[in-house]
Amino acid sequence: MVGFSSIVTATVVLLGELGLAAQLTKVNYPNNATSKAEMWIYVPDKVVASPPLVVVVHSCQSSAQAYFSNSKIPWRQGSDRKGYITLWPSSPNSGTCWDVSSRRSLSRNGGGDSQAIANMILHAIGRYGADRERVYLTGGSSGAMMGNVLAATYPDLLKAVSVYSGVPAGCFVSASGGVAAWNNTCSGGQSRASAEQWGNVVRNMYPGYNGSRPKMQIWHGSADGTLAPANFQETIKQWTNVFGVSQTPTSTLRNYPQANYQTDNYGENVQGIYANGVGHSVPANLTASELWFGL
Ligand SMILES: *[C@@H]1O[C@H](CO)[C@@H](O)[C@H](O)[C@H]1NC(C)=O
Ligand SMILES: *[C@@H]1O[C@H](CO)[C@@H](O)[C@H](O)[C@H]1NC(C)=O
Ligand SMILES: *[C@@H]1O[C@H](CO)[C@@H](O)[C@H](O)[C@H]1NC(C)=O
Ligand SMILES: *[C@@H]1O[C@H](CO)[C@@H](O)[C@H](O)[C@H]1NC(C)=O
Repeated sequence: MVGFSSIVTATVVLLGELGLAAQLTKVNYPNNATSKAEMWIYVPDKVVASPPLVVVVHSCQSSAQAYFSNSKIPWRQGSDRKGYITLWPSSPNSGTCWDVSSRRSLSRNGGGDSQAIANMILHAIGRYGADRERVYLTGGSSGAMMGNVLAATYPDLLKAVSVYSGVPAGCFVSASGGVAAWNNTCSGGQSRASAEQWGNVVRNMYPGYNGSRPKMQIWHGSADGTLAPANFQETIKQWTNVFGVSQTPTSTLRNYPQANYQTDNYGENVQGIYANGVGHSVPANLTASELWFGL
């Protein structure tokens, strides 16, 4: 019997002979979540053996396809150059913001978008042979918010996260249970809490979890008029507390990775990059995020 995977292999070889390049492809995946987010995948022509996987989560008003072809989003080039697979989830919600507000997405296996994306990651590992020990996630704006939520709900699936211009996990909560609801208190920078309280928000999303967690790289612009810059410090408070480290940087690099940016390290697992004078959203720096991922 000819297996499905050998048909796929033959097809890839045939496409290669025809000179057709790799493309972003929508795939069905085993999804037991209520959320019907779409899974799109990009397997580069020169994919490496047991490839790393980078999950790239789009912003509001975008989609997997739009984000993939956005010239400011460099992950396709990274994938082509280094041979890792990229996974592009596409939001099912009106306005295409991710659901980072309802209880079902803010809890492990609660049925929301976070669970749908976790299912996509498992499918990328099981069906596309991605290395489960090298799964990384990046995203901008709503995608960055989802990055923080996924780091809290599925810490066992991710090794490192690099988020641009988001808010802490659980900051956009909707008191009335709204799905993908906007939250002015958080976006305006008025959602302030102690590091311990923010850490508890994360721990409560996956109670009892005591395994490893992804290292977190947090980018934010000082002139962000959409998600107030205060969210940067609140997010740093959250993850330093989760990792049990001080909120005083262990090292600071001025004008790094570029002029007017400042990089603060909080031990090995938390890094904040504050972009002075930059608005919403900080442009993705492929080199710096790949470096954080070890790619
Ligand atoms: C959904 O699938 C995941 C992965 O197989 C599993 O861990 C989880 O328990 C399932 N959740 C539900 C609600 O069935
Ligand atoms: C917005 O989020 C904050 C937490 O950041 C929460 O306390 C507040 O209730 C939320 N607002 C609404 C209208 O749900
Ligand atoms: C960690 O959690 C697992 C599974 O819930 C449990 O079996 C184990 O005893 C826990 N370990 C510690 C050190 O708490
Ligand atoms: C991105 O970061 C790298 C360091 O990781 C730096 O060398 C480079 O200049 C940055 N790129 C841009 C466009 O600033």
